[in-house]
Amino acid sequence: MPVISSSSTILVTGGTGFIGAWVITVLLQRGNTVKAIVRSEVKGLALRRSLFQDKRNEGKEALFDVVVIEDLTKDRAFDATIIGVDGILHLASPLSIDATSEPEEIIGSAVNLTLAVLKSALRQSQSGDHTLKRVVITSNGAAVYTPNPSEPTTFSEKDWNDASIAVVQEQGRDASLMDKYRASKVKAERAAWDFYNNHRGEIKWDMAVLNPPFVTGPAFQAPASPADLPSTLKMWYNLVVVPGEKARPAVLANAGWVDVRDLAEAHVRALEIQEAGSERIIVSEGVYIFQEWLDIANKVKPEGYKKELPKGLPELTAGIITYNLKYDTSKASRVLNIRYRTKEETTRDILEWVAERGW
Ligand SMILES: *[C@@H]1O[C@H](CO)[C@@H](O)[C@H](O)[C@H]1NC(C)=O
Repeated sequence: MPVISSSSTILVTGGTGFIGAWVITVLLQRGNTVKAIVRSEVKGLALRRSLFQDKRNEGKEALFDVVVIEDLTKDRAFDATIIGVDGILHLASPLSIDATSEPEEIIGSAVNLTLAVLKSALRQSQSGDHTLKRVVITSNGAAVYTPNPSEPTTFSEKDWNDASIAVVQEQGRDASLMDKYRASKVKAERAAWDFYNNHRGEIKWDMAVLNPPFVTGPAFQAPASPADLPSTLKMWYNLVVVPGEKARPAVLANAGWVDVRDLAEAHVRALEIQEAGSERIIVSEGVYIFQEWLDIANKVKPEGYKKELPKGLPELTAGIITYNLKYDTSKASRVLNIRYRTKEETTRDILEWVAERGW
């Protein structure tokens, strides 16, 4: 039995982001009504434009609505919007953070944002008029893995990245931005599970959490220039497409990855599928070192893409590649049954998308 069938009403936070626009598209294709929470009218208009100038969303305008909530963490900010909603996909992250931010600021904003959504969801259950069946929260692989493992390690949903919390505790504001970011992901996800477990007896919905690692793929929005690309796609683009010498540490960087379109499908399945309830799920096709993307790009370069692509350091992938970081992705296969795009498919699609823009 699905928890949420198509033709439901789904609230989405973070819809203006890289993953969010694809998620909304999958929801609309399934015939759901979508309420997208945005922080300003301008962002709402931009999202509406990018969604409906695309033929995939043709004829779906009537199913889509934007709700402007400037400060999502303001007390009860979500309460009115949540009325009548069957499911929530919470993808939003706090606004921009930078290297000099206090860890308490970064971590506190992430935790407060997640709790704001869950508190409204709890109040809906306590009201006489509850419709909500499931909340799906987008966490991150960074909440799972221990950074830079010194030997090959396979991480699963049982693992938590307490290492980054320790680093931030020790180094405070001198900790790297990456460590602060990772620590915020751990704390926000932990806060979500604590809240969920503490209120199990009162809530009329259940929760699922997705932990995607590095996300890449074509962007749904149409950025004016490569500088406006979503951050993870920009990183991919800068390493794989932009000419120039590639430093060894950069092309050796090893992580898990998933195509943004498969991750969007995973979000919607995490709403629909009964067995996803109360689960934390790593969503990843597999792992890479960056040089592999460079090799693949040179191999699958589509006809439309005319420019030279950098070669990087192909000797790094000539032999057997040792991945120190790996994920056990069996839960996602079992519960969500995603057919992932391969690195080749994703690379070709990004390059075609880039070529269409004449970059
Ligand atoms: C998070 O919420 C707590 C409790 O309301 C508040 O004291 C704190 O300042 C908030 N943190 C941030 C960074 O907004």
